[in-house]
Amino acid sequence: MKKIAIGMLFAASTMLMAADGAALYKKCAGCHGADGKTKALGKSAPIAGLDAVASAADMEAYKAGTLNKNGMGGLMKAQVASYSSDDIKAVAEYIAAMK
Ligand code: HEC
Repeated sequence: MKKIAIGMLFAASTMLMAADGAALYKKCAGCHGADGKTKALGKSAPIAGLDAVASAADMEAYKAGTLNKNGMGGLMKAQVASYSSDDIKAVAEYIAAMK
């Protein structure tokens, strides 16, 4: 029992520490496509290969509620609301690496 508890603690702490772009992207795939080439709800640009600095800036702005390119900014705000800046950077780098 004790071992299991320690194992769970360890798993939780590594999850908190390492922002894993691929894992963070999972919930995005439903709209943006597993390959990032889908125009989400017909509204977004395809995001695969976007410059990581630029897309991270967009995501920070969605999170802050200051970006609304196509009337769906509020929806993107909800997507990234729980993401830290590190999470956003990690997922932006993951997107940039998609071909
Ligand atoms: C429910 C569908 C949905 C999900 C899930 C979703 N998005 Fe979006 N995303 C959109 C829509 C719609 C837009 C266009 C928003 C606007 O009007 O500005 C958008 C826009 C974007 C843009 C800007 C693209 C452009 O047009 O320049 C980026 C980057 C982005 N999303 C990344 C993500 C990431 C990363 C995730 C996962 C954390 C995610 N999205 C999850 C629907 C979604």
